[in-house]
Amino acid sequence: MIAPIVRTLADLRVQTAIWRNAGETIGVVPTMGALHQGHLSLARAAREKCDRVIVTIFVNPKQFNDPDDLKNYPRTEDEDARKLESIGVDLIYVPEPEQIYPDGFATTVSVAGLTDMLCGESRPGHFDGVATVVSKLFLQTSADFAFFGEKDYQQLQIVRRMAADLDIPIAVIGCPTIREEDGLAMSSRNLLLSDRSRVYAPVLAEVMEDMRQKLADGAAMAEIAPEAEARILAAGFNTIDYLELRSGRDLSLLDKAEPDARLFAAAWLAGVRLIDNIAV
Ligand code: PAF
Repeated sequence: MIAPIVRTLADLRVQTAIWRNAGETIGVVPTMGALHQGHLSLARAAREKCDRVIVTIFVNPKQFNDPDDLKNYPRTEDEDARKLESIGVDLIYVPEPEQIYPDGFATTVSVAGLTDMLCGESRPGHFDGVATVVSKLFLQTSADFAFFGEKDYQQLQIVRRMAADLDIPIAVIGCPTIREEDGLAMSSRNLLLSDRSRVYAPVLAEVMEDMRQKLADGAAMAEIAPEAEARILAAGFNTIDYLELRSGRDLSLLDKAEPDARLFAAAWLAGVRLIDNIAV
């Protein structure tokens, strides 16, 4: 059965109050829709852990820097609802924009430090938009657990920091990146790739995997990054926003592998920005 779709905060609260009064735990999976296997794996993780599961679908205007990017973002609500059917989620929350940003809305949640580097550098304000909407979704759903993909590792760390700093009583759970058979990390943005670009897109993950092996063998980023970047560009990517080794805990920059190190990349392929990260 397709889960009920709720569009207002008032209706959402009627339902969550019933669940809370019955002593049931609630898990939330925040998404912007265009659901793929990565999202479905989060919904499954929530299904396993929680009595009740809410998937939210909201294309958050505050986290887009480019109006065209917001306009072109895939919107596939009916298909999304059907995809969630087999998992048995309890409710899909698709708030109208004014349910999240009512008239006069004036608050921004900004997480210092973690937001300055990686995607934060080329997308100013993006993570303020993410932290603001996610804090609202946490409070609106009153969920006990929230599920995020490690694909957006920086986002995951920012959301964890935000929830801890604001004392929101929710456990933020990171789930592994789900990949296509050829290694491309699943992303709603992959839908925007042309057939031709889709062929070259997995090169990013391929190069990162080679780098991971070299880093694990003791190589330094300074030695291996230039050749890796050249390979990515030779495959047809237009620009590389970053290709960096960082601590998975505080995202500080590293030159050599150490416990918790992760390799992060973002690159543009024919107008589509792809990101990926792997543990080293
Ligand atoms: O990862 C996403 O899809 C979005 O950034 C999120 C967490 C749903 C907030 O809009």
